Amino acid sequence: VRRTPLFIAIAAAGLTVAGGLALAQSPPASARLSFTEAQAKAGQAEYAANCTDCHGAALNDGEFGGTPLKGEAFRAKWSGQPVANLIGYIRVAMPPDSPGRLPVESYVDLAAYLLSANGVPAGERPLPTDMDELAKLPIETGKGAVAGDR
Ligand code: HEC
Repeated sequence: VRRTPLFIAIAAAGLTVAGGLALAQSPPASARLSFTEAQAKAGQAEYAANCTDCHGAALNDGEFGGTPLKGEAFRAKWSGQPVANLIGYIRVAMPPDSPGRLPVESYVDLAAYLLSANGVPAGERPLPTDMDELAKLPIETGKGAVAGDR
């Protein structure tokens, strides 16, 4: 019992060191994926015009084989992958009758909208449109359900 205060002091010092290391190792803010509310809004408009028919207005109520773009399966598939992969996929494959017909900004905005719908919060810095930059930004979705999942 007498050793408890010393133990706590040592444990606290250990935590401080560990915290310092974790801070030192976490990547700079600029290396983390961020998109703006404006990008997500623009993406929502592109989605309504180009994607709703097959993927549904709620992103998980589609028709014609359009897979859910919202929900745990979608997040499990894309989380950890560079956002360039998602944007690249949409660009080469979607919409299926005329992929790549939208400007690259629109594909980036669409990705921002999909991430936003999957619970990733908008931030201060916009998602870039340069594919090399996008290749450095892994998608980080949260764990668990998001409002509107089903
Ligand atoms: C004509 C119907 C149709 C339209 C329009 C369409 N999609 Fe798709 N989409 C599909 C189908 C079908 C698949 C499944 C393809 C597969 O599994 O090979 C798919 C798959 C996807 C995927 C991959 C889903 C996953 O599980 O990883 C994404 C992302 C996607 N679509 C985004 C979009 C976006 C964004 C638009 C609008 C620009 C769009 N799609 C328009 C039919 C469509």
